[in-house]
Amino acid sequence: MCGIVGYNGSKRAVDILLDGLARLEYRGYDSAGVAIRDKEIEVFKAKGKLTNLKEKLQDKELKGTIGIGHTRWATHGEPSEVNAHPHVSNDGNVTLVHNGIIENYQELIQKLGRHDYKLYSETDTEVLTNIIDYYYKKYKMGPIDAINRTMVRVRGSYAIAVMFKEHPDELWVARKDSPMIIGEAEDGYYVASDVPAILKYTNKVYYIDNLEAACLKKDKVIFYDLNGDEVQKELKEIKWDVSAAEKEGYEHFMIKEINEQPDVVKKTINSFVKEDGIDLSATGLTVEEIKKFKQIYIVACGSAYHVGVCAQYVLEDLTRIPVRVEIASEFRYRKPILDKNGLVIIISQSGETADSLAALREAKNQGVKTLAIVNVVGSSIAREANHVLYTLAGPEIAVATTKAFSTQLIAAYVLAIQMAYVKKKIKDDVYLELLEELKTIPDKIQDILKTLTTKIQRLSSKFAGIKDAFYIGRGLDYAISLEGSLKLKEVSYIHSEAYAAGELKHGTISLIEDGTLVIGIATQEEILEKTISNLVEVKSRGAYVVGVVPKNVDVSKVANYTIEIPETNKYFYPSLTVIPLQLLGYYITVSRGLDVDKPRNLAKSVTVE
Ligand code: AGP
Repeated sequence: MCGIVGYNGSKRAVDILLDGLARLEYRGYDSAGVAIRDKEIEVFKAKGKLTNLKEKLQDKELKGTIGIGHTRWATHGEPSEVNAHPHVSNDGNVTLVHNGIIENYQELIQKLGRHDYKLYSETDTEVLTNIIDYYYKKYKMGPIDAINRTMVRVRGSYAIAVMFKEHPDELWVARKDSPMIIGEAEDGYYVASDVPAILKYTNKVYYIDNLEAACLKKDKVIFYDLNGDEVQKELKEIKWDVSAAEKEGYEHFMIKEINEQPDVVKKTINSFVKEDGIDLSATGLTVEEIKKFKQIYIVACGSAYHVGVCAQYVLEDLTRIPVRVEIASEFRYRKPILDKNGLVIIISQSGETADSLAALREAKNQGVKTLAIVNVVGSSIAREANHVLYTLAGPEIAVATTKAFSTQLIAAYVLAIQMAYVKKKIKDDVYLELLEELKTIPDKIQDILKTLTTKIQRLSSKFAGIKDAFYIGRGLDYAISLEGSLKLKEVSYIHSEAYAAGELKHGTISLIEDGTLVIGIATQEEILEKTISNLVEVKSRGAYVVGVVPKNVDVSKVANYTIEIPETNKYFYPSLTVIPLQLLGYYITVSRGLDVDKPRNLAKSVTVE
């Protein structure tokens, strides 16, 4: 949940580090710091947002061309200058930044205590820094030996960038479970937690595996495995352009990414739907495997979990095989009983969410096939799953996911349709009809953005001061109301709940009173009347009802305000109804003057439990 950057080259390191940290602030922003090496290593840290650190550095003459930087999301030790990174070993031999958590740091503190190490912070990272120094001094076998012995000794997750006093031209990095990319450019080598931090300088990157390390020199990079042997790595090209990481004139990344949905949904559809049907070969999933699956488990967190709830309805209805949807943080400790002929699908935008990664490993430990639906190429979940279905949302910067969510929905539809077809649950005509309709979704999303954005902006200003909101629906509409509710509360801080419309009268309807905002989603023909009668129930208790319905559905008698969306196939309505719900969350938050892209208490990628 932190962001690390590093540079070793010919340019002034401080500019590159501060620029990179600014692009990683969505990962954590309660304190920041840099260490710049010129003749000596100088460390500068500041509590709070990156601007505080920039102020501290603005009149400093820092010519050094090697350095490391960090933006923090506190886990061990409250946000403070002392606990901010970089951390330095007792005698200044080792300077380090870290993203992740050292789980056995208490035990290591005892060890360091026995060797007269004193600690100045409450962080697990300072412990890690001194453990590297301890091995460096004990075995005198240089940096790679000290780092490898440390990786064997510590438990937890980490991506680290390290400078050793006695190795002035070298920047060392290593990782386990936490994300890291190494960039190669004419002027030198870069390291970062995520692509946006270095895309401005290069799109040529290396990925290192768990328990691997690398030495970044000004003119080359050397990779090592845990035995200290050199290993070769393939240089990969990132297809995203810098502008993708920039706001392109939009006020916030969230509204920019909402408006990118027609394009990225189209890209994701086209990456699987070919002339003669769906091609899942890129995932490695074979027809034989698909035929064998008797049970599907979808495991994820947050919005990705909501995609899973939508997928359950579509997969079960089309394939007629049972689908269970699980919250990853529960699944991993529930000792789930998994069918060996099952498929565990892990959905994750970042591919680094700790609970989802652990759920993946739980499934693999039980010998069950795993498929990851992931947006970040080379992320841990993508690399550890048996099969990977990449969504093409591009870099998603805003903490509140929108475009990645929409591309994950497409991935779920494609999977459901292909599985049903391979299992002969649907005939050619239905198969082709579904694919034809699926191809219309990008234009229908574009149409919604064009016709409804201003309307919803105006409507949202009415709700700037509300305290509570309810989202209700049945079936797929209930599934998408979960996401609508999260999109509002996570950025606007308004208390919001999503409810299966039929469940309200079993208790929660007692909360409905004059003016209570109720967003009713009603697209599913078979159960439309039921949903509308639930809207009548809340309206009669004084609720202000906003109906989200297809053009052919009239709720004008019960809704105070109607949001009409284009008609489509019943399975694909979540892709259309989620757009006005995202816009509502965004514009209500803007009308409350809040930081839309970096909501309090949240981070884009939750890499700890
Ligand atoms: C959604 O807007 C949030 N950012 C959060 O719920 C997110 O969906 C969740 O943390 C899962 O993240 P992932 O998709 O990267 O695994």
